Amino acid sequence: MDISILKQTAQALMASGKGILAADESTKTIQRRFEKIGLQSSPETNLAYRKMLFTTPGIEQFLSGVILYDETIRQSINGVSVPKYLESKGILPGIKVDQGLVDLPNSAGEKVTEGLEGLKERLSEYKQLGAKFAKWRAVITIGEGIPTDNCIQQNAERLAEYAKLCQEQGIVPIVEPEVLMDGSHDLAKCWEVTAKTLKAVFNRLKAHKIVLEGMVLKPNMVISGKESSIQASSQEIAEATVQTFLEVIPKEVPGIVFLSGGQTPDQATENLAAITKIGGPWQLSFSYGRALQDEALTVWVGKEENVQAAQKSFLERAQKVSEARSTR
Ligand code: G3H
Repeated sequence: MDISILKQTAQALMASGKGILAADESTKTIQRRFEKIGLQSSPETNLAYRKMLFTTPGIEQFLSGVILYDETIRQSINGVSVPKYLESKGILPGIKVDQGLVDLPNSAGEKVTEGLEGLKERLSEYKQLGAKFAKWRAVITIGEGIPTDNCIQQNAERLAEYAKLCQEQGIVPIVEPEVLMDGSHDLAKCWEVTAKTLKAVFNRLKAHKIVLEGMVLKPNMVISGKESSIQASSQEIAEATVQTFLEVIPKEVPGIVFLSGGQTPDQATENLAAITKIGGPWQLSFSYGRALQDEALTVWVGKEENVQAAQKSFLERAQKVSEARSTR
């Protein structure tokens, strides 16, 4: 394991003023996103959309990395492989390596992430294809009697096993334990579950001897459930999020990049700004999917003649999020 390469990549992902674009929607998820604009997903339309995003002039000022899906890492833009194209713009290519969620046996409403089988071989192939970092997403749901300790533990263990395999191959693992915003729970409940989940994750990372300086954490913000009648303010979200992190996340972790998780682009931008204003011993940034893409997708709607306008919208949002990441 080359620790210096891991550290270097993790630092590069956390470069000042920049963050990560999550463009790693699975075939099913991109289809769901395209339904909103009445477009059929196919390898060609998926590429046309992602090409619009990646070729946005100037986007490299705000992006340190892009997370790709298996289909995209094998595609080309203007005759150049997507990872090489991104690297030519100074953007690190990354890859989603989990294979999605399945029901957790004997636990209604809970999920566990699949993808450890054959992961070593897949990582080695992705490395050949140009991936410098990877992502694995675990999902924790808040509801009646859930999450159970079993769900948290199983997901934490899998995240740590994935992180180990990545680091052995010189690939920086993005460790993503996402406590979902779905539900009517309040901020205090999200706080409690997020703290418990992160504690379990760092316990397992420690047990597997993960080099903390060579990883990046991708958590949710501590936030009210989407259906909660009391929505916490940005300041409350920021205070709860940073307080939780200070209690649980070792300072050796070089960077924390937030997911947007269903927040609107404006909410995800404002909340990030409030969080980075308080700050902590780690670099704080973004790895947004929907919050960076939603507006551009709505402008693009699958039409070549809208590419420039969609790119303008994407660039403007990326700049706003970059500014939010740089409030200190
Ligand atoms: O795994 C989730 C994505 O990487 C982030 O997507 O910002 O839309 O939650 P999101």
